[in-house]
This record gives sequence, C-alpha cells and structure tokens, in this order.
Amino acid sequence: MSDTQTQTAFAFTSENLTRAAAIIAKYPEDYHASAVLPLLHLAQKQNAGWLPQHVIDYVADFLKMPRIRVYEVATFYTMFNLKPVGKHHVQVCTSLPCWLRGSEAIVATCRESLGVDLGETTADGKFTLSEVECLCACVNAPIVQIGNDYFEDLDPDRLRGILAALKAGQSVKPGPQIGRKGGEPMEGLTTLTDEKAVLAPKWRKDDPRAGGA
Ligand code: FES
Repeated sequence: MSDTQTQTAFAFTSENLTRAAAIIAKYPEDYHASAVLPLLHLAQKQNAGWLPQHVIDYVADFLKMPRIRVYEVATFYTMFNLKPVGKHHVQVCTSLPCWLRGSEAIVATCRESLGVDLGETTADGKFTLSEVECLCACVNAPIVQIGNDYFEDLDPDRLRGILAALKAGQSVKPGPQIGRKGGEPMEGLTTLTDEKAVLAPKWRKDDPRAGGA
C-alpha cells in the first residue's frame, strides 16, 4: 500500500476521540480489536471520505493491533476508499434487483451528467462515480448512494435532477423519490390502511389523549 497524496499527520478530533471511546467500550477488554470496522469508518469520515495508509496505521496503533491485520480489513471491504473521492461519492448499485429495475440507464445518466466513467472523479473534485454491489434496499430499486444517503426509486430524470441540484450546491431530499414512505407498495397501501385500526388511541390525531405519554 502507498499513499497517493502527501502524507499529513492524522489524529482523531476530540469529538471523534469521544466517539471512539464509546465504540470501544461496547466490547470486552480483551476484544477492542472488534471495534476496527466502526473506527475505520470514523477515520474515513474525518479524512474526507478515504483512508490513506497512514490513517489506517493510526487506527491500528489506536487499537493496538498489528497494522497488517487492519490493512486486511481495509482492503477487503469496498466501503473503505483507498483513494481520494470527490465531495459527493456517487455509488450506483448494479446488482440483480437494481439491474432489473434499470440500473444500466442509471449508470449511463451518471456518466452523461457528470462527464466521468466508473471509478473516476470529476476535474473539479466534486463527484466520484463508483459501481457497487447490493446496497440492501432492493425493494426500492434502483438505488444510488451519495455520501451517506440513499436515493431510491430512481429513473434517469429523477437522478438528473438530483445531480444538477448537488452541482448547484443545493440540498436534496434522500429516500424514495416517488413519494412513498420507506418500502410501502408503489401503488399505495393495500393493508393496514385504517389509522384508527392500526394505532393505539394515544397515537391517533383525533383522540383527546393524543400527545400524551
Ligand atoms: Fe440494488 Fe439490492 S440490488 S439495493
């Protein structure tokens, strides 16, 4: 492994030191190495979305693990980026359910809108385009993950709008893009449609006890 950028010292911020301590405390004294995944995620988030070797070394030393053990983890999982990524890391799922729901058109739209191919970053450093395996939101396929957010029920027009908004520095609403809530049926609810039948009285808007504990 070698850094592709000039190495600069890395250390968790005071906020992340607190987070790291809370994560480590979840594991028994002799098993702090079990915190390696969340700590690598924490380090990646702090380091502009990627893990150069010296940052991986920092996590290894932090957990008192042999560095090679942490290299094995960081290079195995595709969620860890070993090269710099743009401000917006656009990850398109092309596994079977998303492919059946049009992921080829989604990839083509990304290529066309961003002007880069898979694995590339735009010249202004704003976008990196990647292809990924199942993001585990197949019921709302096709899916694109941008940063930490999922954008679901996409089609080329919806995705074009999202990318244009991000290019313009605007915020975009993640989640399903067709107005449904979570993984509800696309044509609307077919069961549990009666709020009165589903919700306990204290949660019903028309109940005088609404808002109570
Ligand atoms: Fe794309 Fe599962 S196949 S989220």
